[in-house]
Amino acid sequence: MATRCLGEREGLTFWLARPDDYDDVMSISDDIYLGNDYLPHRYHIWLEEPGRVVVLARRDAKMMALESFLVVDEGSTVVVEGLRVCPTQRGTGLAGVIQRFVDAYVCQLHPSVKVKRLTRNDDPGPSKLAKFSVLARRAVLSFAGEAESFESFVSHLRSKLTASGPSVPTVVPLGTEQLRKVLLDPGLPSRTRLPGGAIIQDWQPLRPMEGNLAILGRKDLDWFADKQEAPAFLAVSTRPYPVPFEGGALRSSVDLFGADPELAKVALVSMLERARCQGWLTEKVLVHMYLEEALVEELRSFCDGHAGVREWTSSWLQLLVEGPVEESN
Ligand SMILES: CC(C)(COP(=O)(O)OP(=O)(O)OC[C@H]1O[C@@H](n2cnc3c(N)ncnc32)[C@H](O)[C@@H]1OP(=O)(O)O)[C@@H](O)C(=O)NCCC(=O)NCCS
Repeated sequence: MATRCLGEREGLTFWLARPDDYDDVMSISDDIYLGNDYLPHRYHIWLEEPGRVVVLARRDAKMMALESFLVVDEGSTVVVEGLRVCPTQRGTGLAGVIQRFVDAYVCQLHPSVKVKRLTRNDDPGPSKLAKFSVLARRAVLSFAGEAESFESFVSHLRSKLTASGPSVPTVVPLGTEQLRKVLLDPGLPSRTRLPGGAIIQDWQPLRPMEGNLAILGRKDLDWFADKQEAPAFLAVSTRPYPVPFEGGALRSSVDLFGADPELAKVALVSMLERARCQGWLTEKVLVHMYLEEALVEELRSFCDGHAGVREWTSSWLQLLVEGPVEESN
């Protein structure tokens, strides 16, 4: 069995995460993303995921921080996710310590990896991002309501579409083989304006290449496009999954790629209808949409005007950055 303790740095010890660390990880995750944290749902999935490592930092026995990486792009890149620091220790540089440790560990474990890619929900400005290239900036538009209200919200949006006349475009679901063809089509990034050339699926940025298809394929995702071949619009959504928001809610994430607002509306409604079939039960529902900044106002006004489902405001944006993995720092 691999040694679980990975090393020491600046008063912290670093460990490979195990299933029984779950409670300690949750103890530093209380307030994360205003209740929208995916990790309570994904922690055990991550521990089983091929190519992923979850690293924990402790001071003595106390949990201090977590960061995870996933090897992507056929071994040349890691996607870094899950970064978090114990609330009482934030602002003291611990995020930098775990990131430097993890970089060195990536180099040791995967010498072919030269690049790390990540998304963040803020833009701290050029000086804080000096080591990174900013590849893309996307908007986040979110809605929240009771599951019951979402039922009528979806019907409300569908009737708005229908009322806008017979010229409303359509989207089609993509099956596994169609999706594979679409994603491996070299024209896809420019036609659908993939941000930084990547499919960002619920914050995880992956280049559309063969080696990444398995990563996307092991998730429960629904894909839609304006057509089954050479689409100019692509959309992907998660099945609703539980997050801690206001004592427990279901979250759906809808990523929209393309510039056409009418297709964005149709894709959104199709995905919400699909999510509704998968069951919102009696909980609160949160839907996050990730899209081009130029589409926000039109999508916002399309979703406006329903009594039970309101825009859930946060100051989030989605910033896609890439930088070098640094061996010794
Ligand atoms: C974001 C968070 C991890 C920063 O931790 P911290 O210890 O307070 O960070 P500091 O402000 O002391 O900054 C330390 C380093 O972390 C980096 N950092 C800060 N926020 C970051 C972020 N969102 N993503 C990546 N790196 C980040 C800083 O650039 C700095 O790097 P450097 O040492 O190489 O210059 C912490 O506030 C946290 O746990 N927040 C809740 C979870 C969260 O929002 N995670 C962000 C994922 S997008």
